[in-house]
Amino acid sequence: MCGIVGCTGSMPVKKVLVEGLKRLEYRGYDSAGVAIQQDGALEVVHRVGKVAGLESELACRDLRGTCGIGHTRWATHGRPSTVNAHPHASCDGRIAVVHNGIIENFAELREQLQARGHVFASETDTEVLAHLLEEAYAECPGDLLTALRRALQHVIGAYGVAAVCADEPGVIACARKDSPIVVGRGKDASYVASDIIALIDATRDVVVLEDGQLARLTPESITYFDERGREIEPEITHVDWDVDLAEKGGYPDFMLKEIHEQPRVVRDTLAGRMVGGELSIDELGLSYEELNLIDRVYVIACGTSYHAGLIAKNLIERWARIPTEVEVASEFRYRNPIITPSTLVVAVSQSGETADTLAAIRDARIRGAKVFGITNVVGSPVARESDGVIYTKANKEIAVASTKSFLGQVVSLTLLALLLAQTKGRLTTAQVRLLFRELGDTAEQIERILHDTEAIDEAAYACKDAASALFVGRGIGSAICYEGALKLKEISYLHAEAYAAGEMKHGPIALIDDGFPVIAVATESPVYDKLVSNLKECEARGALIVAIATEGDEEIKKIARHVIYVPKVRDCFTPITASVPLQLFARAIALLRGCDVDQPRNLAKSVTVE
Ligand code: M6R
Repeated sequence: MCGIVGCTGSMPVKKVLVEGLKRLEYRGYDSAGVAIQQDGALEVVHRVGKVAGLESELACRDLRGTCGIGHTRWATHGRPSTVNAHPHASCDGRIAVVHNGIIENFAELREQLQARGHVFASETDTEVLAHLLEEAYAECPGDLLTALRRALQHVIGAYGVAAVCADEPGVIACARKDSPIVVGRGKDASYVASDIIALIDATRDVVVLEDGQLARLTPESITYFDERGREIEPEITHVDWDVDLAEKGGYPDFMLKEIHEQPRVVRDTLAGRMVGGELSIDELGLSYEELNLIDRVYVIACGTSYHAGLIAKNLIERWARIPTEVEVASEFRYRNPIITPSTLVVAVSQSGETADTLAAIRDARIRGAKVFGITNVVGSPVARESDGVIYTKANKEIAVASTKSFLGQVVSLTLLALLLAQTKGRLTTAQVRLLFRELGDTAEQIERILHDTEAIDEAAYACKDAASALFVGRGIGSAICYEGALKLKEISYLHAEAYAAGEMKHGPIALIDDGFPVIAVATESPVYDKLVSNLKECEARGALIVAIATEGDEEIKKIARHVIYVPKVRDCFTPITASVPLQLFARAIALLRGCDVDQPRNLAKSVTVE
């Protein structure tokens, strides 16, 4: 979603802001802009579309200023347009702000500000901040930080915000509440951003502001404050990513690079988990006794992470025999779930900052549940607000469509299911060890799938012009189908739905006619024969069947026009192997349809608004 960068130093800042905004492009956005201090005034430039467009416009301008802020906007309040793009300025144009998050009481604030004579240029919630700041600054001229702190006292909602003022050369003030802000010192400059990735060219030592904290940046130093304006000593986080992680590493797009990283994700997620022959997840934050008491599990998540939860339900109930519900966080948070002290809530989120998932975590904790987070981002709000956390070791995921982080989630949830089964005594130590070893073997099996993708490309070519597609499976296979369908629709804009195959004749089969694509997860399983019967019914009506099947299955060729083989694994591990060809299938169709696979339209990498 929206992204913030800012820099103050001794060199012209225009290029730094553009490069920072480019690093944030992966989050998804529809417009971009900058505000740069120049000759005692602020130059604000913004435009709809990609950062490249903003870059061309800036190239034509003689901007030498050494302090500025920039933003990529993903529209929430007001359509994508130049006037709605950030930065937003005060009436006198001497203060400019960029903001991530949502100001919930903006309508009321806007009315009050208008009544006091402020004139608004945009439809955004953010603009109230510029006007509030203008009023607050008049009360404490020369102290932008204090003005920002006071202005924010009127605001209800979430914000990561950075501001500059023409009257304070070289100063950036920033603050956060429920929307990340990171700050760091480079060689000769100070930087702020909403995401570490925008800073890694400049520094590896960053401060992730806590809720309520503020920072004042100058070219020489950064000073930190709490919400009452008292100076504080922040904790510095060292980031040890390689810059290459943020690059494509020779792949045509991030999505393909990330799909190819999946064998490593499996290995890294499992590393160090088997200690002295016993499965161990120390970060769980729960004692053996607490784990043993668990009698109900909720998995809460959104999108792809929710689909990882569907797989977890199957495994936790299968192995640990604990009733497990999976629920989208946006529903969970608004109903009255049955939670007791022996309920474990597992919150799954790649970004660790999805607004609905965070709200659901808070609600679950208030109701007395233990909350366990599974996230890819160290120190993210989901990690900080959970009782324990597993990090998925996927490393930074850039493509909007989750692939490697999904796999990391599935592997982590599989470990959790095994641990619960081990604790409850439902699986013997020997069974857990065997399953753990086979789980590890999937890394090599994925490598084999990635090695030969011809059948996937052929199937994609056959389906590329369809208007719609159905993904069907049974048992754990149906859970994989939900993810396959989401992947296809989000990056190729081809409508797709997933169904448990047994449901076909209760309605969806009416859709089938000549050439209608039915993608089946038809790997070896106890319900394989049932699935084949369902597929025969589709085939009889002309469906174009693409089957993901187990190597050696020749029978399936009688009904499927395209067969994509995956190595033979135990049924419980098919989510790991079968999801890889489905990711590649979606990507191949998206490319054939001319879509941008890394940045699909209307989508954001991190959904920080409700
Ligand atoms: O960061 P999260 O895992 O909480 O994000 C949840 C969804 O927004 C995310 O999985 C989304 O569905 C992706 N675009 C899927 O590829």
